[in-house]
Amino acid sequence: MQDALFTDVPVQYEKIADATTRLSFQMNSDLYTGSLLKTLVASKHSGRFLELGTGGGLATSWILEGMDNDSVLTTIENNSALLEIAQAMLADQRVEFVLTDGYEWLQNYQGEKFDLIFADAMPGKYDLFEETFSLLKAGGFYIIDDMQPQPNWPSGHAERVDDFIAMLEKRIDLVLTKMNWSTGIIIVVKK
Ligand SMILES: C[S@@+](CC[C@H](N)C(=O)[O-])C[C@H]1O[C@@H](n2cnc3c(N)ncnc32)[C@H](O)[C@@H]1O
Repeated sequence: MQDALFTDVPVQYEKIADATTRLSFQMNSDLYTGSLLKTLVASKHSGRFLELGTGGGLATSWILEGMDNDSVLTTIENNSALLEIAQAMLADQRVEFVLTDGYEWLQNYQGEKFDLIFADAMPGKYDLFEETFSLLKAGGFYIIDDMQPQPNWPSGHAERVDDFIAMLEKRIDLVLTKMNWSTGIIIVVKK
């Protein structure tokens, strides 16, 4: 099996990658993560999805490809230049692009819960985890990547990652699978 062979890369993918490269943005989600998100999202009909950390929209493009017509996606980003790329490339009435601080958004959101959360920024992952996890429906997916050491990790981050994983493993309100694949993915399902 060639897991590096992707036959369904979103058409916008290359243009988004080029545009984010011009901004010297180096935190794009990779093809593996995008492909996994598309597959998981497709399991939820009329789903409600949340992405924390849109970047230029690479993972967003995969999530949209997996969604049916009745599903909706909210994606949060605090960098306007990046969000503009995503908005320009991914015009789609099923997605709401929100330019805001993820910390503020998570502490103030009062709407419906989500079927899948892709937590790809500090808020929602290493910070405000409880608030974020409370927004997930029972049976919903909580997905995180970059759990294997990355070149851009600041000093002290590896310990934070270890503590975060240990915290997840102790919880009785979820089940998880750790995968040393892509950048290191953890698939969590809320009980
Ligand atoms: C790992 S990147 C996201 C990559 C993106 N998911 C993709 O598919 O390429 C993390 C993103 O979170 C954003 N971010 C960081 N802190 C944030 C905050 N406090 N609120 C909202 N977004 C934030 C960064 O600007 C960056 O675009």
